[in-house]
Amino acid sequence: MTLAHDTVDLSCTIAGVRFPLCLMNASGALCVTREELEALGRSRTGAIVTKSMTLEARTGNPEPRYYPFAGGSINSMGLPNLGYRAYAELIPALKTFRKPVIASVAGLCEDDFPEIARTIARAGPDLVEVNLSCPNIAGKPQIGYDFEASERLIRRVRAVVDCPLGVKLPPYFDPAHHAAMAEVLKRAPVDFLSLINSVGNALVIDPDRESVVIKPKGGFGGLGGPGIKPVALANVRAFWKAFDGRIPIIGVGGVVSGTDAFEHLLAGASAVQIGTALVEEGLKVFDRIAGELQAVLKKKGYPSATAVVGRLKEL
Ligand code: DHB
Repeated sequence: MTLAHDTVDLSCTIAGVRFPLCLMNASGALCVTREELEALGRSRTGAIVTKSMTLEARTGNPEPRYYPFAGGSINSMGLPNLGYRAYAELIPALKTFRKPVIASVAGLCEDDFPEIARTIARAGPDLVEVNLSCPNIAGKPQIGYDFEASERLIRRVRAVVDCPLGVKLPPYFDPAHHAAMAEVLKRAPVDFLSLINSVGNALVIDPDRESVVIKPKGGFGGLGGPGIKPVALANVRAFWKAFDGRIPIIGVGGVVSGTDAFEHLLAGASAVQIGTALVEEGLKVFDRIAGELQAVLKKKGYPSATAVVGRLKEL
């Protein structure tokens, strides 16, 4: 017989929304089509996160545009997605899976964001995640690296979205930039943060072929997977501290095992998203990592994932 106290509670609450499991897909990973989103719904994932949506449907960049390698993955997908109207129609069906639906909103220019956000919010997602950090559209810099543009955009989206609103930020590599973005987010508040997007404009080379490995942008693309975990943890920790632990954070970057998820929780994440490992392993990754996280927390005597959040020790 399994007694309640034998199991660790892996649920979490973010901006008042309860997640049955603190693990979910990262936007972009297996979440473009209706079939993919419904398969997520049937899986163990704690939430269904959509692909970042644009005004019009897009086929994305030319292939090859995703390449897994030993250290992780590089991608330059170019925002292939069904267009926001299709996702607005899909959301009611996705909500029947009884787990939160997170709509990821992108755009090719600033005006796109509030237009998409207004319509998608009316379709009833549980949360909206505004993507300020797509690195893969040639000629379109990541908005999150422009603090003034980010503030303007967050204000405009906030004005048209009633449900909890978060931002997906690019990685920052200097405390001055963490501080500057934290100040933006104190002036233009959001309800949660998703940290981090892929490490943009990296270059992976195949020495045998003496070639780049993806076609768009001369081989430059967003880096994901194990190699970016320390960068992700640093960003989770920096924003956790900047807000004195008073903003929910979804950690993203390099989660392949239950221990990786545990490290994100220690740094200050309330939940974690899984990208490269989901693409490489498929939907069973949620069962595996949930089992591993359960075992780690049980061994360490934690009653719940929530009890770990932010408890990283400093020396
Ligand atoms: C894409 C990649 C991203 O990292 C992102 O945030 C949005 C879109 C893409 O190439 O499709």
